[in-house]
Amino acid sequence: MDTLHFDGRVAIVTGAGGGLGRAYATLLAARGAKVLVNDLGGNFQGEGADLSHAEATAQAIRDLGGEALANGDSVATTQGAESIVAQAMEAWGQVDILINNAGVVVGVGPLWNVTDEQWNTDIGVAAGGTFRLCRAVWKHMWDRDYGRIINVASGSFFGMGSGVGYPAAKGAVWGITRGLASASAATGKNVRVNAIMPIAASRMTTLMGEEIETAMQRDFPADAVAPVVGLLAHDTAPSNGEMFSVGGGGFARVMLGVTAGYRGTNKQWTMEDVANNFERAMDHSEFFQPADALEDAEAYESGVNWNAFRAFIG
Ligand code: NAI
Repeated sequence: MDTLHFDGRVAIVTGAGGGLGRAYATLLAARGAKVLVNDLGGNFQGEGADLSHAEATAQAIRDLGGEALANGDSVATTQGAESIVAQAMEAWGQVDILINNAGVVVGVGPLWNVTDEQWNTDIGVAAGGTFRLCRAVWKHMWDRDYGRIINVASGSFFGMGSGVGYPAAKGAVWGITRGLASASAATGKNVRVNAIMPIAASRMTTLMGEEIETAMQRDFPADAVAPVVGLLAHDTAPSNGEMFSVGGGGFARVMLGVTAGYRGTNKQWTMEDVANNFERAMDHSEFFQPADALEDAEAYESGVNWNAFRAFIG
């Protein structure tokens, strides 16, 4: 395969002052993209602000002959998200690629200790930031009929203890990804929205102690996640609405599937009928993957015209 380039493309990478975001920004810039490097520059719990983190990544890119600008706004506010996009538009006139990477982990369990403030921070950065940045570029990408968005979720969505703010935010990131991808697919737009669950050493993993940290640095370097993000950000991005687990030089599709299940039609069915058919609902030897919510509903026998609903969704 020919080497894949980003010449003429403009990318925004949020939270790119270090860790994974820096690896994404560096890869895109090395292959010709102009990159707006955003990072609030606070600590891993989202406290404080320091432009020098974003500036360091941007300077490293420029030192290698690439084109990059630094931005220190927060993705957690509408004003911040809009000024991130405005800076890229003013400098380069377009935004082709958006990587929603900024994230914090604040409300770690047990659940009874998680405060409203921690919940709001976890949701506000990952879910809120992804929503705000997507909203700020969506019409632009829609009107130009071009866009590549990569949203950063997390394997914590599979379950990660009772500090549920962070996984809930990452679940919302998946919901945003599916919603935007289905809207784009329904209209045939060349706007592709995918998500990843990365596994990599970063300052977040330094909290786990030296032994894990050393092994993570060796086996899961941040740079080893970047090629998947790079391909999803490229013109040739081969998927839309997908989620990938990525780490250590490998990747795999994460699926949303529904089993063939028990598809009864008796509206007066009972709790005992549910118990008797529980195994059929759980059996995943046959399953399908709905492209959207209506494909899920269509699997039940009914006379409802689901296409009439489709017009509603937009
Ligand atoms: P990191 O802490 O080095 O990177 C996160 C970056 O986001 C930081 O540079 C931080 O300053 C920035 N940030 C935080 N709040 C911000 C805000 N409001 N506005 C702008 N920037 C903000 O950690 P890492 O590991 O590189 O994380 C990158 C992304 O990957 C995060 O979304 C994280 O949740 C996700 N992730 C990482 C995993 C890993 O194994 N390292 C596992 C699963 C998900």
